[in-house]
Amino acid sequence: NKLNNGSVTWSSPSNIALVKYWGKKEHQIPENPSISFTLDSCKTITELIYSKKNEGHNSFDFEVYLDEVLKPDFHPKIETFFKRIESYVPFLKEFKFTIKTKNTFPHSSGIASSASGMSALALCIMSIEKQLNPNLTEEEFIQKASFLARLGSGSACRSLEGDLVVWGHHPNIKSSNDLFGVKYPYKVHDIFKDYNDTILLVDKGEKQVSSTVGHNLMHGHPFAIQRFDQAIENITKIKSILESGDLDQFMALVESEALTLHAMMMTSMPYFILMKPNTLEIINKIWQFRQETGLPVCFTLDAGANVHVLYPNKYKDKIYEFIKAQLVAYCQNGHYICDKIGFGAKQL
Ligand code: PMV
Repeated sequence: NKLNNGSVTWSSPSNIALVKYWGKKEHQIPENPSISFTLDSCKTITELIYSKKNEGHNSFDFEVYLDEVLKPDFHPKIETFFKRIESYVPFLKEFKFTIKTKNTFPHSSGIASSASGMSALALCIMSIEKQLNPNLTEEEFIQKASFLARLGSGSACRSLEGDLVVWGHHPNIKSSNDLFGVKYPYKVHDIFKDYNDTILLVDKGEKQVSSTVGHNLMHGHPFAIQRFDQAIENITKIKSILESGDLDQFMALVESEALTLHAMMMTSMPYFILMKPNTLEIINKIWQFRQETGLPVCFTLDAGANVHVLYPNKYKDKIYEFIKAQLVAYCQNGHYICDKIGFGAKQL
């Protein structure tokens, strides 16, 4: 083939799970299906510069820059990723790569960049694959990119499209499967089409428990089977909630999922508490405000102390005012990110 050198750039967003993925089998196969909102402004922009090598075809050859700064410490993670995907994109060792990446959210915000970062890189690699194999359809392109992203970081496979993505086989979600994320294929009530996620940065430090360690805690976990069954049930439930637009049921399901994720970490061996006192302060304030006003605001959590505050844009004025007046005080240095539901990755 004649492909020698060039560059491709993709922007890919983060996502926030409503029904959580926690626990995996070998090869990044999830123990249970999950569904997420794709985010809009929290994203990674990655440029992949490639040039054909004349020799050295038995090793990966790449450099990684974050915000224009060379990052040798990113090497092992990318090397592992390349090893995992090599058999699906066998040209990797034929090129020398420069990976230039940046995030729109602050570097040490406690917001994981693995979903947006791995999906952006997977898409860049697929753009090379597409040049080598022009017959690839758009659908094949996106599926394979999600497949590769999954091998980088499980939840990354849910970041390519929007606004809702399912990953993991579920009997009631057509075309759902364990290998890549699929756009949620059913009717969704208008209330969910314009949803906000205000991310309260309670703790901007490094993650206390890496997600690899976290997923492994589900092996032999006393509640593992019940949890995986519950996730399947919750996907069934959320399917009818998404159609009906029942916000009370939505909030109950989403908050229960967040607390269950943390309950799994509190009941594993070893055990962890990833919430901070301010996480609980925020949760209590949200409950109090909801009880007093009846406004549909709820929270979800990732595997950390930060709180994602979810609410329909329709109620933004009052809820955002409440967030600023009562919740931002619990954030580290008053930092928070205003995001909303988004529509996936874009080639730039
Ligand atoms: O993609 P990973 O391996 O970093 O796992 C992330 C899992 C959670 O963010 C805690 C939940 C989810 O479904 O995104």
